[in-house]
Amino acid sequence: MSDDILVMGICGTYDLDSANGRMLEIILDQCSELGAKTTVWDHGAKPLPLVGEEGCWDDPNVKEFQEMATKADAFILSSPEYHGTMSGVMKNSLDWLYSKHTSGKVFGLVATLGGQSSNNTLNHMRIAARWIHGWVIPEQAAVPHIKEAFDEDGNLKDQSLRDRILSISTSVVESAKKLRR
Ligand SMILES: Cc1cc2nc3c(=O)[nH]c(=O)nc-3n(C[C@H](O)[C@H](O)[C@H](O)COP(=O)(O)O)c2cc1C
Repeated sequence: MSDDILVMGICGTYDLDSANGRMLEIILDQCSELGAKTTVWDHGAKPLPLVGEEGCWDDPNVKEFQEMATKADAFILSSPEYHGTMSGVMKNSLDWLYSKHTSGKVFGLVATLGGQSSNNTLNHMRIAARWIHGWVIPEQAAVPHIKEAFDEDGNLKDQSLRDRILSISTSVVESAKKLRR
């Protein structure tokens, strides 16, 4: 086993060129600066079937997704809030993960919102991650008014949010190192 921590990003939208794709990019870059290796699942290139749909159990994308998760030491989940909860893409991604892929591994959570801030999606992802025996770090971030959240360079405008995001990256890498000992 390599000494490097591997952090896997899972996006709640199909397109990584989205607000949630950008949030993952920011956090994974920070994790990388903190010495971790990173990877991200690209739902646009390799969509996962809905759990239970015909042929889903033999889908090669599912196998690859689960193998990537098995190799990871930690996960960043970034989901848009849809009708007060995580997106279907995020829920279906988590439905493809079982404790054999995720048990004892660290989870960091981010949600983006079109409107005002809410902890709903964060809380719902926290419950689902707990159900697959993940250790969810206490640091988390909801990014409200997402259309106005980034400057022209794709950086978060709000300094307190930037601080919060860095605290997530730091906690994920440090916690993953401690849990892997
Ligand atoms: C079906 C749907 C439901 C939504 N529900 C909410 C909501 O309950 N609260 C909210 O603040 N924004 C809501 N939005 C706005 C999304 O949260 C917003 O577009 C998303 O965070 C942008 O992220 P993305 O660029 O990664 O898709 C909703 C959007 C869609 C398409």
